[in-house]
Amino acid sequence: MPATNEQLSKYEKIEAIVKGFKLPAAAYKRAMTLLNQELNNGLKSQKSNATVLSMFPTFVRSTPDGSEKGEFLALDLGGTNFRVLLVRLNGQEIDIQSKTYLIPQTIMLGTGTQLFDHIAECIGKFVAEHDLISHQLPLGFTFSFPCHQEGLAKAKLSHWTKGFRCEGVVGEDICQLLHEALKRRTNCKVEIVAVVNDAVGTLMSAAHGDRNCEIGIILGTGCNACYMERLDNVHTWNKEEKDFQPKQVIINTEWGAFGDNGCLDFMRTEFDREVDTFSVNPSKQTHEKMISGMYMGEIVRLVLERLTHDQLLFRSVDRECALFERGRFYTKYVSEIESDTDEFFRHTKQVLDDMQVENYTTEDCKIVKYVCTLVSARAAFLAAAGLSTLINRLNKQDMTIAVDGSLYRFHPRFHNLMCLKIKELVKPGLKFRLSLSHDGSGKGAALTAAVSLRLRNLKNV
Ligand code: GLC
Repeated sequence: MPATNEQLSKYEKIEAIVKGFKLPAAAYKRAMTLLNQELNNGLKSQKSNATVLSMFPTFVRSTPDGSEKGEFLALDLGGTNFRVLLVRLNGQEIDIQSKTYLIPQTIMLGTGTQLFDHIAECIGKFVAEHDLISHQLPLGFTFSFPCHQEGLAKAKLSHWTKGFRCEGVVGEDICQLLHEALKRRTNCKVEIVAVVNDAVGTLMSAAHGDRNCEIGIILGTGCNACYMERLDNVHTWNKEEKDFQPKQVIINTEWGAFGDNGCLDFMRTEFDREVDTFSVNPSKQTHEKMISGMYMGEIVRLVLERLTHDQLLFRSVDRECALFERGRFYTKYVSEIESDTDEFFRHTKQVLDDMQVENYTTEDCKIVKYVCTLVSARAAFLAAAGLSTLINRLNKQDMTIAVDGSLYRFHPRFHNLMCLKIKELVKPGLKFRLSLSHDGSGKGAALTAAVSLRLRNLKNV
């Protein structure tokens, strides 16, 4: 059916509002050049105020060789939940038992002592439930926030991200805080032997079965990546240590902060700016805010709000309905809506019911889905541009990239969109594979602990 004049102008108006999400390949290529410059700047010993990427050396210098053995505790803290895991390693065999605990909002915004006491108490209960009170347990701690590492088990929090704001933790060694809380609140014999970022845990976990894996990426509540860098390029690394083998170290890029100096403004939309203004960390984590699950739903909601306001969507909506509430449109809705493949729009309708929108039409459903596809495709393409920058930098024939995070896991098209874009952006001839890293942060922390004990034992013989 040909579109009427009235419909045509409606679609033109919608296009004008969403066009900022449809970026040409040149924009992603420009982002890649900028990212590569920022990666180099972050590795320099003298950093200027405009340096935005932390590029933290992690002290993790070897990936697992598959011979790791033993019984480990792992702790995974990085979002609204945290998990305690018991990981038994025996070469390629791994047995994991875990329990998830909630972190109440009051604790997320409370004091560091409250946070670490709460975690220690949960560890105490977990150890008791598994009859491990008398066991000497090495612990690997996945702490998914930017930390300046001073050793494998010494990491000072640089700043909070992802909605956390616990007082008294920034600048402190989080291993020390956990150690003290464990002493105060439990009687278990736990030794913290390694602290890792979730991107690093994900890389370690995948590298356990795949020696070609040298990049890890998280696409979840937040977005971050790490990769194996040659020590010669890491000018922040202590010179004396450069002589030790292996001459490489995993760098936690903290690329969520890419663009915080304004260099990505050319591709931001008015909706990105609004999300930023109303976040708990305005002007921070620019790149993360255009990609990750903490913000994607809100970007979509703001576009839908604008379309409704301009009378391009939904005939009649109550101004009090959930669609107009900040933070109420979750990123999981984007995944659900995009999984509708026929004209019945079953998931889309469920979401709109949840948003208390009434009297919507099939055409409204189509527009809602269209907005979701544009916002999620931009996120996937931007993540792909970031990965392509790292793949080109490492310049290896075959590269496996370990991926974890709820956005990647649950979005129906994220993986395919990323692969398409990476193929377009990497140097010709470089092969890559995106591999979902199962239980990356938990298993990865335990494996890092195991590798560190293996290397410690080697030094002692
Ligand atoms: C945020 C954190 C980073 C973490 C990422 C994914 O970007 O700053 O440390 O890796 O979220 O959880």
